[in-house]
Parts: sequence; structure tokens; C-alpha cells
Amino acid sequence: NPLNFSGVWRFRSLFPYASDEQIVTLGEGQTLLQQTDRVGQYVGLDSGKLHLQYEGMNPSGSFKDNGMTAAFTHAHIVGAKRAACASTGNTSASLAMYCSVTQLMKAVIFIGSGKISYGKLSQALDYGALTLQISGDFDDAMARVKEVTKDLGIYLVNSVNPFRLEGQKSVMFRVLEALRWEPPDWIVVPGGNLGNSSAFGKAFAELKELGLITRIPRLAVINAAGADTLDQLYNNHNLRWNGGRFDQKVIDGYYKNMDETGAKASTLASAIEINRPVNLTKCLRALHDCDGVVRQVNDQEIMDAKSQVGAGGMGCEPASAASVAGAKMLREEGVIAPSDRVVCILTGHLLKDPNATVAYHTTDQDYFNQVLGSRGVKRAAHANR
Ligand code: F0G
Repeated sequence: NPLNFSGVWRFRSLFPYASDEQIVTLGEGQTLLQQTDRVGQYVGLDSGKLHLQYEGMNPSGSFKDNGMTAAFTHAHIVGAKRAACASTGNTSASLAMYCSVTQLMKAVIFIGSGKISYGKLSQALDYGALTLQISGDFDDAMARVKEVTKDLGIYLVNSVNPFRLEGQKSVMFRVLEALRWEPPDWIVVPGGNLGNSSAFGKAFAELKELGLITRIPRLAVINAAGADTLDQLYNNHNLRWNGGRFDQKVIDGYYKNMDETGAKASTLASAIEINRPVNLTKCLRALHDCDGVVRQVNDQEIMDAKSQVGAGGMGCEPASAASVAGAKMLREEGVIAPSDRVVCILTGHLLKDPNATVAYHTTDQDYFNQVLGSRGVKRAAHANR
């Protein structure tokens, strides 16, 4: 069966909502779990303990294809002719690709003004999506697309869509498969809209219930400093899942304060420049089920970790490197032990955001100033060459 070539749909018995004939696949999920000692050493782990899951190997260059094939399939089943998303760039690239290759739907994309890397924007444009830049940031675009899709009956593919999360569970199925179904000690993942972390928690809870695993790995969700709503609410306001009876007042108060101060998300990891994560409460559940922790890492830590992933692996985009920077932080704190087996999820391809990478490595002061100068990030130490 050709569906077995998809790294998502070969696990379809674990999310059975579409018949084989209904499934729309572009061969997504053929990704790689790789053990790397060089990056492991940077994180502070013993030899053989760090694995990187390269989700940038997906057809549109990010993990989003895992969820998009699932949501797109559902959109097709219900007869949608248009599908929309707000995006920091990867969701839009993925949606636009599924639309252009299949010609089944038209893509409508909302992006914040000046908030998208050119690698990602170029994908949406070349794939022919209707690409709308709105005044405001991702959180504004997300609010807008929710209204517009409701008013106009357009299918919404952001990760509020539960089918997205069903597809993204497969990232964990593949990680476990590569580890011969022996769960690692830690899964470390960047946190933006918190779809991945929510999907991963759901995957583990279900696998345990089915008796396919006996132990659930611990989950570490890593925010970027400047886009740290989850970290603030989890660590400073002690917000917990509590059987679904989480304290809504804490969340409402936090957002009200954000509205009053006009605080906007700000990080050079533009993919996760998000202050109002739509899957916040689902992620709280995942953190509960997976004995999770949350941390934030700053732009410098992200760029330094990213260059290490390049120098010791296949590379990744800035947001993805938050996982490696977060693992290093947790190792230094002693939360992760040197002998723990750790899997960091690299969510997007190195080529997604070339400007940040070139600026980090360049000796051209003007270019550095233009791209990174305002962010207080220092250039590569080049000590690793
Ligand atoms: N890493 C990358 C490369 C991303 O593009 C995103 C999200 C995340 C991490 C965060 O994942 O939302 O599951 O916590 N990008 C979205 C987009 C918001 O529009 O492409 P999450």
C-alpha cells in the first residue's frame, strides 16, 4: 500500500478517521533520528545519549507536514474548497504546498507584517497561495484568521484543528520506532503555539493505554525568551492541568495584563514568536501526563546552539535550536543527568531562515547590524572551527 511510504499514515491505525482512498499524502514524515556525540558533548551528555530528530527533512522543510497531511485530508473529506491559516511561516509553506501539488483547495494565508523569514515566504508565494500581510504580529493574525474562517466558512488548518495534532503524534511514533520502542528519558521540543508538545503528550498517553509502551518519557518544552507565556504561567504562576480544572483566572489575568501593557512577542526565532499559544491548556495536560518541565532560552543561546547543530549535524532553523539550548540548560541545572537518553526535536530545516544564519557567521559588520544588531546577539565565536 503506497500509504505505507508516508511516515504519518503508516501509523494510521492509531488515528483512524479516514479511509485509505480519502487520504491525501505527499510522502511526509520520512525523517531521521540521529545520534550525535558532538552536539551531545555541547549539551553535556555522555557519549551515545543525544539524539536529534530531523523534522526539517519533510517535503516543505518542517514538521508541519505531519499535521498538514492529516488536517488537509480531513478538509478534503468534508469537501472544503479553501483552507486558511495564520502563520509565522512554516504552517503557511506546508498548506500552500499541499494546495499547489494536489490542486484540491485554494490556500489563504495571514502573516504578521515583517514577521516571516524569506525562505518561508518564498514558499507560500511560489506555491501560489493568497498571502495576506496584516498589521500586527502572529497573535493578531491568529485572532483575525479565526474570525474570517468562521464568517466565510473557510477550513482552518492552524493547530487549533485537532486533526493537525493527530498527524503530529506520528513524530513520536517514529522516534520510538527508531529506538526500538524503548522510550528515551527526555523529549525536548520548542514551544510556540504548543501543538507539538500537546500532540506528543497525547501520543504517549495513548500508547501507554494501549500497552505499547510501559514508561512515558519526560517532556521539556522550551520557549524563546520574549515569547515565554508558557514558561511564565507554568513556572511563575504555577498553572497546572489539575484534571482539566486549571485556573482560568490566572490565564485571563495574564493576558489582560499583556493587553494593558501592550506587550508583544519578540525573538529572532521568528517561528515561535508567539505570546498567545492556542494549545496552552492541551500542553498543560501533556506536561502533566509526561512529568514535564518548561524553560526559556534567549536569542544568543538559540543561535549558539544552532551553530553547534550545524557543525555537528544537519543543521536547523533558529526556533528548532531552542530544543538543544534548552537541553543544555536543563543539563547544567542537573534536571537532566549526563547519562539520560535525550531526544531533541529539530522542527525546521537550516535553509528556512538563511539571513539569521549568515548574519551570525559573517564578518560583514553592516549585514550583521542590519539583521542581528538590534537583538544584542554576539556573532559566532568560531572556536569550534
Ligand atoms: N519550530 C518551528 C520551526 C515552527 O515553525 C513552529 C511553529 C514551532 C517550532 C512551534 O511549534 O506551535 O507546535 O509549539 N510554527 C507555526 C507556524 C506557528 O505558523 O509555522 P508549536
